[in-house]
Order: sequence, then C-alpha cells, then structure tokens
Amino acid sequence: MPNDAPTSANALTAGSTAGDLMRVVIVGHVDHGKSTLVGRLFNDTGQLPDGKLEAIQEMCRRRGMPFEWAFLMDSLKAERDQGVTIDTSQIWFRHNQRQYVIIDAPGHREFIRNMVTGASNADAALLLIDADQGVRRQSRHHSYLLQLLGVREVAVAVNKMDLVGYDEARFREIETEYRGYLEGIGVRPRRVIPISAREGDNVAVASANMDWYAGPTVLDTLAEFERPESPVDRALRLPLQDVYKFDDRRILAGRIESGRVNVGDELVFSPSNRTARVASIETWNTADTPTSARAGQSVGLTLDEQIFVERGEIASHVAGAPIETDVFHLRLFWLADAPLEVGRTYGMKLGPRRLDATVERIERVIDVDALSDHDAESVARDEIADVVVRTSQLVAIDEHDDLPRTGRAILHDRHLTLAGGIISMGSYPDQREQVTVRATNITAVDHRVDHDRRAARNRHKAGVLWFTGLSGAGKSTLAMALEQRLFDEGYQVYVLDGDNVRTGLNANLGFSPEDRAENIRRVGEVAALLADAGLIVITAFISPYRADRDRAREAAGASFQEIFIKADVATCEARDPKGLYKRARAGEISDFTGISAPYEEPADPELVVDTSDRNVESCLDELVAYVKDNFRAPA
Ligand code: ADX
Repeated sequence: MPNDAPTSANALTAGSTAGDLMRVVIVGHVDHGKSTLVGRLFNDTGQLPDGKLEAIQEMCRRRGMPFEWAFLMDSLKAERDQGVTIDTSQIWFRHNQRQYVIIDAPGHREFIRNMVTGASNADAALLLIDADQGVRRQSRHHSYLLQLLGVREVAVAVNKMDLVGYDEARFREIETEYRGYLEGIGVRPRRVIPISAREGDNVAVASANMDWYAGPTVLDTLAEFERPESPVDRALRLPLQDVYKFDDRRILAGRIESGRVNVGDELVFSPSNRTARVASIETWNTADTPTSARAGQSVGLTLDEQIFVERGEIASHVAGAPIETDVFHLRLFWLADAPLEVGRTYGMKLGPRRLDATVERIERVIDVDALSDHDAESVARDEIADVVVRTSQLVAIDEHDDLPRTGRAILHDRHLTLAGGIISMGSYPDQREQVTVRATNITAVDHRVDHDRRAARNRHKAGVLWFTGLSGAGKSTLAMALEQRLFDEGYQVYVLDGDNVRTGLNANLGFSPEDRAENIRRVGEVAALLADAGLIVITAFISPYRADRDRAREAAGASFQEIFIKADVATCEARDPKGLYKRARAGEISDFTGISAPYEEPADPELVVDTSDRNVESCLDELVAYVKDNFRAPA
C-alpha cells in the first residue's frame, strides 16, 4: 500500500505526495459553470480520447438538445471513476510536467462537507463567479471556508463573459467587489481572470474577444500555483487505523498524516501516553522492509515492546507530541437541517477516533456576508459558529493552524455528518503534563493503619472539601472560618489556600492555563494525601477548569466533595477585596479569571453555597451542618 508512484486513481485521491502534483478544487455557485470549465480545460489540454467529443455532440444532436461540456464530463466520469465516492468527482490530467487533480463537488453542501471532512484535500482553489449574476452569498461562503481551512493559493475566474458581451466594465465591477470581500478575510487571489468556459475564452487559450485583458489564462494560472509546504517536514502524526495481531506480533496500521518515522525512533501514543520504539516498518505489497516512511504513506509498525495501544490513538515522537485535552474550541460549519443545540451530545470523529462530545457553549455565530458575529442559542443549517465542546474522554488533537490534518473534527449522528470544524485551544490548557506518569519501576506499598482506625481515633471521617469559585466569591474567608469552627469542635482540619500555596509549594507557577492545571494537580494530590492521613481538608482555589477539578476528585476518591462558592462576576467585582478586578480591567493583570480568562462552573457539585446576598455566618452554618452530616465517624 505505501507507494510514492501514483499508479491508480486511488493513489491520487489518497493524497500521494509524488512529484509535482497539484490538487485544485473548483469552487462556485451551482450554476456558475464548474463542469463546463472542467470539460473545456480537459478538452483544450488534449486529454480527451479521440472521437469522444464528436460522439457526445452527435448524441446531443440526435436528442435535439444543445451540446453542454458538462455532458462530456458526466460521460467520462461514468466510465472512469467508478471506484471514487459519488459526491466528489476527481479528474486528473497532466500538463507541462505537472499532474493536476481537479476536484469538483456537485453541490454547496457536498463541497463544504468534503472540504471540512478532509475528503478533498485541496492545495489550491479556483473560484468561479458568473459574470451575469455576480458575487453571491455562496461565493462568499466558499471563500470564507477556504481561508479557514488554510487554502492559500486561490484564483478567481469570472465566467460567462460571453453573456455580458465581453464587457470590461462588468468584469471590473465584479473584480472590485470580490477582491474587496476577499481582502476582508485575508485572502489575496493570485489572479482574477475574465473567461467564457463555454466558448473557450482565456481557459487554455488567450481570448480574442477581450483584448482589454492581458493577463494569464486559467491554465497558465494553474501553473503559477505553488505547492503548499509539505507535511513531511512537520511533526510526526500517525493516527492508528487498526491494530492487527499476526502470530505473536502486533502491527499498528495507519496513514502518516505528517512528518516521518524511522526504525528505532521512540514513539509516544496519545492519549494513552505509552511509549515504545519502532522495531520495523511493514508494507503490504512489497517484499522490502523500509527503514523509514513519511507523510502520505500508509504503513504498519511493529514495536520493540508489547504495549497496549488502541485504534484511534496518535503516534508521534516524544518531543512535539499532540495536545491532550477533553475540552476545546471548534469553529464549525453546521450542515444538518436540525439546528445545533447547546448541551446536546453528538458523535465525534477525530481521524479514526470515535467518541461522544457535548456542545457546552456557543460562543458566536459568524455572519459570513457582513463579516460580523453575534450571540446565539442555536446554530442553523449552513451557519458558521464558534463553539466549545467537551469530549467524553481525553483526546489527542492539534491546533488546526499548526497541523491541519489532526486539527479538525466532525460531528455526526450515526451515518449523517452534522458538521465539520477546525480545532483551537484558546485558553484551555494542554493536559498532557497532568496525565503523564514519568517514573517507571514503581510499586505502591500499603499502610498498616487503615482509614477506619484513623476515623475512629479522630471521631470523624476524613475527606476533601473542594471550594471552587471566582476570586472574591468568599472561598478563603469561608474556608478559614470553617476551619476554626470545626477545629473548635474537635475536628482534625486544615485549609489549603491558593494565595498561601502559591508562595511555597507552587511558587514556580503563574496563571497560564497550563500553570493553573499544574497548580490544581499538585493541590489535588496534597489534599488527597492529607485526607489519607485522616484530616478534613478544605481547599480554596479558583480552580477554573472542570477537567482539573475532576482530576482532583479522582485523586481523593469517594470522600471528595465539590463545593461551589457561588457569586457572579458583577458581585465579586463590586466586592473586589484585593483590588484585583480593578487592575484586571485596567489591563494590568492578564489572564484574570472572570475578566480575561474563563471560569467553568461545576456541572454537578455536591453543594452550592451562594454567597451573593447572604452574610458569612449564614453560609458558615450551612457548611458546618454539611460537614456534621457527611463526616460522622462510622459507628
Ligand atoms: S487557580 O486558578 O490556579 O485555582 P488560585 O486559587 O491558586 O488560582 O489563585 C487565585 C488567587 O491568585 C486569587 O485569589 C488572586 O488573589 C490571585 N491572582 C493573581 N493573579 C490572578 C489571575 N490572573 N487570575 C486569578 N487570580 C489571580
């Protein structure tokens, strides 16, 4: 299977990196003339089998209908592409040393779906506009999508110039309008070309009807397109399609999306975080065993150790591994008839990985025409929106801007594609640090004093009271007051407080998402140890990320109580006990929770203490009663 020479259509559609191959997607409103252009291009570059054109023309004559280039292409496709997916048609031809794959999607939604799902991996795009109809909503939509997906090589063809009498003024009008829009989204078309695909003007041959245009033809422009930077030079990403067992060997199979891999390389598999070295690289259809492989190839690897890894994991080198997280931003194109709804759980595909993802928030819906955005409660069909999604498990992903092929996700409902989108982390932390155990050869030893004996002596159970909430919500105040009340009643109790811990144990941490995650990881582990020692531990940390709190819960086990000290930003800002909100508003403190950094409210806390309109004593009474109820010593 791994082959550099594109021997068949499928080798090309699979995105071979061979030679000077340029994949060009033809983009345009349904009836702006895509098929005609492709047919004309095909004919004028001499790709047609002898007699084919005449045969179709003759058929049209017999049926009494005008000849259309589209008929020709349809007939060719019927003969050639039977193995190719029905909604993308790929036509390939060679011209002047360069191999082209022309990708054409019949409809607007197929185009969007193929583009966002990665089915059409275009290097460049030719945007088609009807000279008569001018720039339409779909024209804007399509170019916005190309920009978003990072297709930088773009040219515009203003088609059907024959229908407007080859009028320069009309061409300039469209050119000015469309260039203006494209500039607004940061796209600079290489060329804007007046053409008539039907008549052949400026497609492969310079037009005799538009002497006011001295620029290149469509074919010349294709030759000008530069290939994007090869993914071979980027970080290694090999998503595992399958793990096969052959006799006693396990073969990990997948397509290398970027980078290269050599026999002997140490690989890490994300998100399981297991590592091993490559023992061999297997190929399916050749006898030789290569010592390296690179982006675009499908390979099978064997490892020097029998580690358990699964389909859907991503193999990479240890340095430059993907991000691990269970929450991220998705800029998505919603394709389904039913609107996207906040709080709903959908199926998600991340390459070969399948899992569930819940839409937590719609951040904005983008108006592609006005290039503005607005708040919304749902996302309708054909709209583009920024949302936050939370996956049911930890996943390995990349920022789309860094590595596009592992930086996108699809939402689906069984077989129906609902949306495709590109991934960014924004201010969410990479959780890899928090979930990676580095040490090896570790064996835990058991204590001889168990929890029950400790609880019996202390006359109460141990546990963690995890206070979370905004700065100024009252966490520290309530924590210290509760500690005092409980201590006075004979409890073994201790407070871990954010500002205190940050001067010692966590003195090396700031407020970046990664540092906050590490802050909470350490505190979660310390709290778990103290609870193990028999104490009631009260923690007072903003702990703004749900994933971090969930890990703290996992560390402490069943005794963990998440207590949401609740007050909204306006209330906390009005209190502003340390004057920090004021400074954050003035831009003197960056990443300030509630102002310039997010706070994710607990989804299902054990207790909510709303401090916004109550005094400390009343909140405290509630907390003391809660502890007495829940931490009674076993009889
Ligand atoms: S956490 O987000 O990592 O949980 P933590 O509770 O330890 O934060 O520390 C929060 C305290 O640090 C706040 O009460 C405040 O006094 C101080 N602080 C300083 N800078 C920031 C900031 N950018 N965001 C939030 N709190 C900050």
